[in-house]
Amino acid sequence: MEQPIRHVAILGCGLMGSGIAEVCAKAGYDTHVREISDAFAEKGRGAIVKSLGRAVDKGKMTAEERDAAIGRIRMTTRLEDLAGADLIIEAVTENLEMKNEMFGSLDRVCRPATIFASNTSSLTIAAMAAATSRPDRFVGLHFFNPVPVMKLVEVVRSIATSPATFQTATAFARSLGKEPVEAKDTSGFIVNRLLVPYMLDAIRGLEQGLASIEDIDRSMTLGTGYPMGPFTLCDFVGIDTLHSIAEIMFDEFREPRFAPPPLLKRMVTLGYHGRKAKRGFYDYGGDTPTPMDLGV
Ligand code: 3HC
Repeated sequence: MEQPIRHVAILGCGLMGSGIAEVCAKAGYDTHVREISDAFAEKGRGAIVKSLGRAVDKGKMTAEERDAAIGRIRMTTRLEDLAGADLIIEAVTENLEMKNEMFGSLDRVCRPATIFASNTSSLTIAAMAAATSRPDRFVGLHFFNPVPVMKLVEVVRSIATSPATFQTATAFARSLGKEPVEAKDTSGFIVNRLLVPYMLDAIRGLEQGLASIEDIDRSMTLGTGYPMGPFTLCDFVGIDTLHSIAEIMFDEFREPRFAPPPLLKRMVTLGYHGRKAKRGFYDYGGDTPTPMDLGV
């Protein structure tokens, strides 16, 4: 039996968390967002307001609908403020220790009925569920960037997730206007299992002199109709994020195709974190992105 969801809490208001908060508020949910500092909370809220403003400019929603959605969003820095939530969706950095510390604290303050969900891209749901007293009420809700645009949500069922929790999470994803798919609890689920080796292979190809950054990207957009070439996508996802996903997936499967290539590691070390850092495989300092000279 599905559980009613009215009040949703989101942990983290970065790229993914702000997108998830936006679609929840737009769908009519009371949306409580927790960030670690007032400055991050303000920045995250600003991103949501800006994105909703763009939707109004494009005629996708009215100014009244935007204001109503903004009115449903509350920001906080205190985990205890989330105690009344029916569903908590975690969208913080891919750091298991950090996530489990939050889930452990929330487990103590939330009602037993509250469902916990993670938007992790590569950790397993079991690894987080084990840190709580509610592994049956723990599920994966994996959204895609940009959240307001991408239709898919992977609903991940661990071996401990109850049928009621899974059904509630699936219905919730549908209520956001998304298309849920059921995924098993293995690192990377469905999409990243296929997408991450593809992006890493593009980097290995570049290291081996296959072709230039631009030509590899052009080949995949013009030859296969992908909306972005692999290097544009790497920069979009974030070089640091891709690196940590690859490390976690390599650790899970121990297969070379998931291992982060040396060039990816060097880029992380030097802070070439992609679009958000204004440089990655491309330099975003000018009017149009230009390929970086990465010495390959
Ligand atoms: N928020 C809201 N809407 C946005 C948006 C955003 N951040 N970015 C783009 N859009 C909307 C635009 O408003 C536009 O809407 P319209 O067609 O109604 O006018 C539409 O999306 C297309 O945008 P643009 O015309 O500006 O640009 P593009 O046509 O180049 O599309 C894109 C941009 C949608 C990002 C497209 O390039 C794309 O689909 N790229 C691939 C994205 C992808 O693969 N995402 C998955 C990444 S993997 C992941 O998230 C998993 C994680 O675990 C790593």
